[in-house]
Amino acid sequence: MSIKIDPKALEALKNFTLPETIGFGSTLVPIMAVCDYRDGKWGELELLPYGPITLDPTAKVLHYGQEIFEGMKAYHTDGHGPYLFRPERNAQRFNESARRMAMAEIPEEIYLEAVRSIVGHSNDFIPTNSGESLYLRPFMIATDENLGIKPSDTYKFMVIASPSGSYFTTGCLSVLVERENVRACPGGMGAAKTGGNYAGSLISAQRAKKLGYQQTLWLDGIEKKYIEEMSGMNFFAVIDGKLFTPKIEDTILDGITRSSLIQLAKDQGIEVVEEKMEIEKLLKAINDGSCTESFACGTAAIITPIGKFGDVSGTEWNVSNPEGPIAKKLRGSLLALQEGRNEDQHGWRETVKVVCY
Ligand SMILES: Cc1ncc(COP(=O)(O)O)c(C=O)c1O
Repeated sequence: MSIKIDPKALEALKNFTLPETIGFGSTLVPIMAVCDYRDGKWGELELLPYGPITLDPTAKVLHYGQEIFEGMKAYHTDGHGPYLFRPERNAQRFNESARRMAMAEIPEEIYLEAVRSIVGHSNDFIPTNSGESLYLRPFMIATDENLGIKPSDTYKFMVIASPSGSYFTTGCLSVLVERENVRACPGGMGAAKTGGNYAGSLISAQRAKKLGYQQTLWLDGIEKKYIEEMSGMNFFAVIDGKLFTPKIEDTILDGITRSSLIQLAKDQGIEVVEEKMEIEKLLKAINDGSCTESFACGTAAIITPIGKFGDVSGTEWNVSNPEGPIAKKLRGSLLALQEGRNEDQHGWRETVKVVCY
């Protein structure tokens, strides 16, 4: 698999310097990978200077939300790397999302080459402190130019990248248990990484913020009884020393951090239970002290402890030891693996070739 490199992209890289404060997702490296789909096939993959794209006002993505994306990171800490973490899983999940949204699937080689080329060219801009990384955003949009409601015949796939620090600036999260709106229903698109799921979550994010919480905890769409996930992270709790997480159904995004943590926990002899988790049972377990830790996890957030749950009635539940030993241990071993300090027992780490320009 090859990528055509626009000399202007290399010029842009030479002229780029990282700002002093990087935050999360607001500084972009000055290049982007682009590949277009038309006439039933994918065209040439290109590395271009970062910049605006032109869309016809009738482009289907603008009206019917036919769009998918991924979130990945490249790590380059203490002279180790640059590394990708389980990139094939992201490529597979991208195509699972594409199928759900009736979009063209992309050959994994194109997806991976685009990601590797962005990382290989951006090595100088990967922040090097532990917990920092180059956040990668592969995405695909429907570009057909007409207003008919049907799957597009043309698509644009792109990868952009953002040197990033921590996703959350506070140590411990507070979450609002969402008992009114729902994120996903059985048979819906909750398991796909598509913009509509995130747009639909924003009203709850607004309410959570107004009530003094940072995140929403979503319940199932039928009974509003079972915990599903957060708007951009999966959920875990430690109860009676065991690690509990809602089992994956078609309403929950199958997080790569989640599945990696389950494996790492098992490797460390921690019992893991994947099952339907009743919210009331969790809140009771927090009150009686049997739930000692809870945390959210995802590529962006890594592991972020949850200290407080609340709902619109004003009732609150405080976790006794949010930054507890299991979350701490798992966070440490996941980061050490991603950043190249641990032996890669499961073959999850990929070293990316640095490109000199
Ligand atoms: C809705 C949702 N759940 C869970 C996750 C965590 O997934 P991952 O660990 O693959 O980043 C994400 C982030 O991608 C997400 O958007």
